[in-house]
Amino acid sequence: THQWRGVIEEYRDRLPVSDSTPVVTLREGGTPLVPAQVLSERTGCEVHLKVEGANPTGSFKDRGMTMAITQAKEAGAKAVICASTGNTSASAAAYAVRAGMVCAVLVPQGKIALGKMGQALVHGSRILQVDGNFDDCLTLARELSEKYPVALVNSVNPARIEGQKTAAFEVVDALGDAPDIHLLPVGNAGNITAYWKGYQEYATATSQHAAVASRTPRMWGFQASGSAPIVRGEPVKDPHTIATAIRIGNPASWEQAERARDQSGGFIDEVTDRQILAAYRLLAAQEGVFVEPASAASVAGLLKAAEQGKVDPGQRIVCTVTGNGLKDPDWAVAGAPQPVTVPVDADAAAGPLGLS
Ligand code: F0G
Repeated sequence: THQWRGVIEEYRDRLPVSDSTPVVTLREGGTPLVPAQVLSERTGCEVHLKVEGANPTGSFKDRGMTMAITQAKEAGAKAVICASTGNTSASAAAYAVRAGMVCAVLVPQGKIALGKMGQALVHGSRILQVDGNFDDCLTLARELSEKYPVALVNSVNPARIEGQKTAAFEVVDALGDAPDIHLLPVGNAGNITAYWKGYQEYATATSQHAAVASRTPRMWGFQASGSAPIVRGEPVKDPHTIATAIRIGNPASWEQAERARDQSGGFIDEVTDRQILAAYRLLAAQEGVFVEPASAASVAGLLKAAEQGKVDPGQRIVCTVTGNGLKDPDWAVAGAPQPVTVPVDADAAAGPLGLS
């Protein structure tokens, strides 16, 4: 029987590794591409969800982290550092354990989901809460990596992009071709950069892989309205959104994201917190897919674009949902009715269940 080997082994010929590279992996990638029935009906399209919450630490970051930590290990690094809104740090912390390295984490104080904080803690990373936002954390992480012997594993590290591009390979391998449109949440803008790189590489590839795309999708990216610097055309000083994962005012890969947008014939738009939460609830209640709020920005964007008449029926569409809903369960519980308490009695239980 075949077990998925992780993105480096599965796509070794397309990644910067050699035979002697010490691969650090938790067998990330190989995530489900799930047909979305309700979204397909609503849009008249064939919509799929790339469920990245199924990765080992619950987000797409693992694809980039296997590559970044592997490269750091190969270079002899003893410690890594990252700034994070929570998922990068959860991933870095876990992969650092696998590599026997120290992991330092900088997070914006009070602005990361509890589940993600728990991950960084339980994997034994050294966490500092910074009195500032993500952008401040990244500035500090960069400075520390320049002054001290510690490798930066944010997506400004090219190895991260290399690993994350494998998600585009998987989509093409699963569908037999690239989709017409690919939608993503945009925060620091590494992932849209990575997908675009992956799609382009597969489109120009010769014949090393079974399924080789002949074309590329349009890339549609979505920022949260309170944190939409690319849409506004200028950095946002005090970004805000309930989708803490993408609460970023000055994305590091800004230019690369614009290039992906322009070269693919796509666009980058914003979605409100209300639209994000509506998509978050639709995904859970109608598609059976529980994601964290930031992840629902791609689906919120699809619904917004469809309402605006920008989605022609009959297209093949992939929305990446980037992180697992369990990371930030507060939003699942908030506003939901409290479960009724009953005695151990079938008749008493049948009533509130609507069975009697
Ligand atoms: N969705 C989730 C769940 C994320 O955690 C992130 C980024 C994004 C989308 C946006 O991806 O930054 O490549 O544009 N999280 C980073 C972190 C910033 O620190 O975990 P991006």
